[in-house]
Amino acid sequence: MTNTLTILGLESSCDDTAAAVVRHSIGKPAEILSSVVFGQTDLHAAFGGVVPEIAARAHAEKIDTCVEAALSNASLTLPEMDAIAVTSGPGLIGGVMSGVMCAKGLCAGSGLPLIGVNHLAGHALTPRLTDGLEFPYMMLLVSGGHCQFLIANGVDDFTRLGGTIDDAPGEAFDKTAKLLSLTQPGGPAVEREALSGDPKRFPLPRPLLNRPNCDMSFSGLKTALLRTRDSLVAEHGGLRRADRADLCASFQAAISDVLSAKTRRALQLHLDQNPANSALAVAGGVAANMRIRAGLETVCAEMNATFIAPPLNLCTDNAAMIAWAGLERFRQGHRDDFTLAARPRWPLDTKSPAMLGSGKKGAKA
Ligand code: KG4
Ligand code: ZN
Repeated sequence: MTNTLTILGLESSCDDTAAAVVRHSIGKPAEILSSVVFGQTDLHAAFGGVVPEIAARAHAEKIDTCVEAALSNASLTLPEMDAIAVTSGPGLIGGVMSGVMCAKGLCAGSGLPLIGVNHLAGHALTPRLTDGLEFPYMMLLVSGGHCQFLIANGVDDFTRLGGTIDDAPGEAFDKTAKLLSLTQPGGPAVEREALSGDPKRFPLPRPLLNRPNCDMSFSGLKTALLRTRDSLVAEHGGLRRADRADLCASFQAAISDVLSAKTRRALQLHLDQNPANSALAVAGGVAANMRIRAGLETVCAEMNATFIAPPLNLCTDNAAMIAWAGLERFRQGHRDDFTLAARPRWPLDTKSPAMLGSGKKGAKA
């Protein structure tokens, strides 16, 4: 196999249609030659969550334009690629199918090899794309659709230490924003509001902290928040600005405390097994939250671990991570044929118990 590989990646598992070109020469840092993302936030805004049918149609309409843009931004053509990588799960099935069908068509027409990629592996391998991180390392995926601790042992080898048993934290931020009449996506809106609030005013629950594992639960938090909001409204005839800020700050503190406490536990488990590899990497939109990030940085400092946060555009859904994960699999000799199926569920760690539930952004994996 050649020393230098150039891979086209496609991503369409949730509400972002994306294509990217990534190049890597052995012994050198990887290069993202282009990365195009068409978001669908506006299309779903009126519905309070991602509508799978609308998402699937939008992906089908945009994916080929997206591929053209990625190739043209990289100043390359399809025959100059070594392979095409595509997210083949987990996610909303209609969207995943749009990407898989497009990739198969491109491979059939060009003769290029096809590589199916697990979307979560895309997130989990990103620190190797951005920072060349060596295996094994600890990974916290924390977004609107995912929340899990993984030890990345190898390109196709992950151990899940725990995760949410219900909502993902981003989902909880979005629901909280809705309950408090803030804009979507809720995370940035709640964070902004929390800046002027008192995080200690409302003692919201920190679920599952008493359980000695790495599982988390965030759905009860919004019920507690709803009750507090309703009693404030009943008391004052409406929600006062300062009360809303205090609610946001208290909610954010609860999420941050849970993530920090469980990260401490997960990191300890990782360090027990891999004392020489003490890195914690994060991915997912919620990792943009400054309070949460500061909490995780503190945990890492206490435990002498390196904290790695890829740039935000590579933490959120994108196709560069899919191209990169495909490149890593391709180097290991992995190829798919045209029987490659779109999978709504596809756990990274098949040895761990399955995660339950299905969030607003699709199956939990
Ligand atoms: O990774 P992402 O772009 O998409 C997926 O969920 O796959 O993450 C989006 C989620 C949304 O729920 C959004 O509210 C949350 O990340 N988010 C934040 C912040 N920025 C985005 N949550 C808390 N604080 C933020 N600053
Ligand atoms: Zn994702």
